[in-house]
Amino acid sequence: MNNEKRSNFTGKIGFVLAAAGSAVGLGNLWRFPYLAAKYGGGIFLLVYILLAVSFGFALMTAEIAIGRKTGLSAIGAFKALNKKYSFIGYVAALIPAIILPYYSVIGGWVTKYLYAFISGGAKAAADDAYFGGFISQTAQPVLWFVIFLGATALIVLGGVEKGVEKVSKLMMPVLVVLSIFIAIYSVCMPGAIEGVKYYIMPDFSKFSVTTVLAAMGQLFYSMSLAMGIMITYGSYMKKDVNLESSVTQIELFDTGIAFLAGLMIIPAVFVFSGGTPEALGKGPSLMFVTLPKVFESMAGGTYIGILFFLLVLFAALTSSISLMETVVSILCDKLKIGRKLSCLLVFVFSVVLGLLSSLGYGVWAEVKIIGLQFLDFFDFISNSVLMPVVAFFTCVFVGYVIKPEAISEEVELSGKFRRKALFNVVIKYIAPVCIVLILISSVLEAFGVFKI
Ligand code: PFF
Repeated sequence: MNNEKRSNFTGKIGFVLAAAGSAVGLGNLWRFPYLAAKYGGGIFLLVYILLAVSFGFALMTAEIAIGRKTGLSAIGAFKALNKKYSFIGYVAALIPAIILPYYSVIGGWVTKYLYAFISGGAKAAADDAYFGGFISQTAQPVLWFVIFLGATALIVLGGVEKGVEKVSKLMMPVLVVLSIFIAIYSVCMPGAIEGVKYYIMPDFSKFSVTTVLAAMGQLFYSMSLAMGIMITYGSYMKKDVNLESSVTQIELFDTGIAFLAGLMIIPAVFVFSGGTPEALGKGPSLMFVTLPKVFESMAGGTYIGILFFLLVLFAALTSSISLMETVVSILCDKLKIGRKLSCLLVFVFSVVLGLLSSLGYGVWAEVKIIGLQFLDFFDFISNSVLMPVVAFFTCVFVGYVIKPEAISEEVELSGKFRRKALFNVVIKYIAPVCIVLILISSVLEAFGVFKI
């Protein structure tokens, strides 16, 4: 994101839509439903919502305020406020570089599904074996991954973000309407009600520390928090735009889409696969295995499927563009190189890392790191380790170094800070303590020290 863009957000709607465009993506449509299905349905949803209104609210407010206060993106912003803490910005900057490659692998899967639906393969895609058959190949998934990553790189290089923003304004509302339509259809299928219950009613016996960690990682991922993105967006925000209500709107939008995605997918798992733990625990493949079956059972399902995958692809592209843009602009600044070279470097790096994730489902399926496949490993490192670390230091930084008042002052430039008390308590006490406890237990668990 170059400097010219800093004056781009003319009003509140512009800011909220741009931030929501980055936030709403595969995290909402693909990642949220599979985590919710895996981690106990209703209990995951409840924990997620509680975290969103406390942690999510506090961190997003802090990040946007830091950005707006300094007018800088992550690395510069932490440095400007206190030199000793510039390391937070550096760690944050690493995260999009880890996410982009595997995000593009999933983006490639979405592109392939769109192609399959357009070329008359909707029926075949509804078969249980279709997805597994596709991702375990070598050339096919890599080809689609490189197409997706290449498209992202071309857009970032061409700097057509303005065009993307315009299309976003049209596509986002269509995505909401279509998601509501598909969710209603899913919920009304015979046998779906068990799934709706599983998704909405919390079963407290399914609660565990892992549920909280998974929900927390998902929250950061979905709202593009703890990786410097919202700081950058904040630096583009005008001083008279109401910061607190913008945060509320972005959160509502992001959580609303995630909730709908769960409602589209989880009841359908009960209808088509009987809601067994095995079917619910499918992980990254859940959306791709379940949704084609929903479309197949609908009149005109092929067209709905085409429209749906087109919208998912678009949401994924707007997010991958903001991921790549972040990495590219950091490289330009730090290495003092041009945009073209920087784009090329990021592209090559992402192809290499993404290859691991893609082939990890095929020829390298046997290769495991701490018991995880490559894609899951990268996902774990970024979401369950690095993001909580950045979030923890951000809380400490705001709570004890620059002090919460520095943030309140910034928020109050554009109106009353209604949830100031909540913000202070969460950022100073609740968030840092919880994050450390959860982080320690998750890392210990990952290395098999104990089982939660
Ligand atoms: N928030 C995006 C999603 O939910 O898909 C993922 C993401 C996009 C993270 C852009 C970070 C980012 F810069």
